[in-house]
Amino acid sequence: MKASRLAAAAMLATAITLPAALPSAASPSDRPEPPGLAKQDTLRWSTPKDFRIGTAVAGGGHHTSQPYPAPFFNDQQYREVLGSEFSSVSAENQMKWEFIHPERNRYRFAEMDAIVEFAQKHGQVVRGHTLLWHSQNPEWLEEGDFSDQELRTILKDHIMTVVGRYAGQIQQWDVANEIFDSEGNLRTEENIWIRELGPGIVADAFRWAHQADPEAKLFFNDYGVEANNAKSDAYYELIKDYLAKGVPVHGFAVQGHLSIRYGFPAGMEANLQRFDDLGLETAVTEIDVRMDLPNGAEPTAAQLEKQASYYQRALDACLGVEDCNSFTIWGFVDKYSWVPVFFEGQGAATVMWNDYTRKPAYYALQESLVKATPGGEHRWEHHPAYRH
Ligand code: G3I
Repeated sequence: MKASRLAAAAMLATAITLPAALPSAASPSDRPEPPGLAKQDTLRWSTPKDFRIGTAVAGGGHHTSQPYPAPFFNDQQYREVLGSEFSSVSAENQMKWEFIHPERNRYRFAEMDAIVEFAQKHGQVVRGHTLLWHSQNPEWLEEGDFSDQELRTILKDHIMTVVGRYAGQIQQWDVANEIFDSEGNLRTEENIWIRELGPGIVADAFRWAHQADPEAKLFFNDYGVEANNAKSDAYYELIKDYLAKGVPVHGFAVQGHLSIRYGFPAGMEANLQRFDDLGLETAVTEIDVRMDLPNGAEPTAAQLEKQASYYQRALDACLGVEDCNSFTIWGFVDKYSWVPVFFEGQGAATVMWNDYTRKPAYYALQESLVKATPGGEHRWEHHPAYRH
């Protein structure tokens, strides 16, 4: 990022006028921390009214094979940044089947309960991820010998139990995750539910989730759908069909796992807009921007600049669409990112260095958030705990 742009972001951030203190009416437990001076320079307090800036909460998945204790429970600085920078949190792995439903008759809710409690304490909303997916399913499910009727009951019970437990506490659910391949074909072989029960099961999953929590917004979520392409076309057609049939689908989400090795997805805003035009909410749910770092190389200034521009363009695309109200990064600090574990020789995909100092990408996001609120219509001003 150019020095002038960094300076502009810093100036914009400090230009926000803050109240001296919040009124004392609300009890500390039912309001987020007051936007005091320390808060003026964070992402969440720079967002426009009704816009959520989120992150995945590290846990499960690749973390279990890494040489550090579970970040969410053990890294105090991680928790502080998580609470102060973000107004939305997503479970990185803690709501996936293999994690939350490890045996047929046993659920493991403790970690998710802790995340929801943390979110409430910090005035954050929660995104639920995910209910119907081809990946990270427990062995008892994938290898089980179930009749179609049993499988159907297993899925329904899972959805009613998990969605029901957190009813009223989850803003958006990724009900169906990654159901199409890159050609826009349903993953009929990989996805146990579609393979065994047929494509109609996806609509049933939305119906059951709606029954269990009528307030939650129910989403399709996928990667590689940022642009208008065969895969996003497939979602567009399916969702049109669902809406015509009255299936309770409310949103379409693009994950945003990007690499500066490739061009920025063309026409992202127009693609989000066509889903918005169907009457849906849209969201960016898992963005990170990786780069090639062969043999442990450090990122160059040019790589960081390009990364910052990708984050910023994705955020601008979302901010440009009326009902794109939620922008979530898939982790905020490099040391806990899934990227280097999964893609050898790539990394530095998040917005913070390992010591939680900010990269150009952080400032780029902050700059766009501040610019999107020219009259100073920031989130905190509309919080019920704040009165002029
Ligand atoms: O299942 C194997 C297990 O058999 C093996 O013993 C073990 C050895 O390390 O690895 C296990 O797989 C791991 C898996 O989590 C299981 O929990 C993978 O290595 C590990 O890379 C994986 O990580 C998670 C990944 O989803 C799984 O797909 C990441 O933590 C998580 O960040 C990532 O998140 C996904 C979103 O949910 C959906 N969109 C894409 C996004 C990035 O992949």
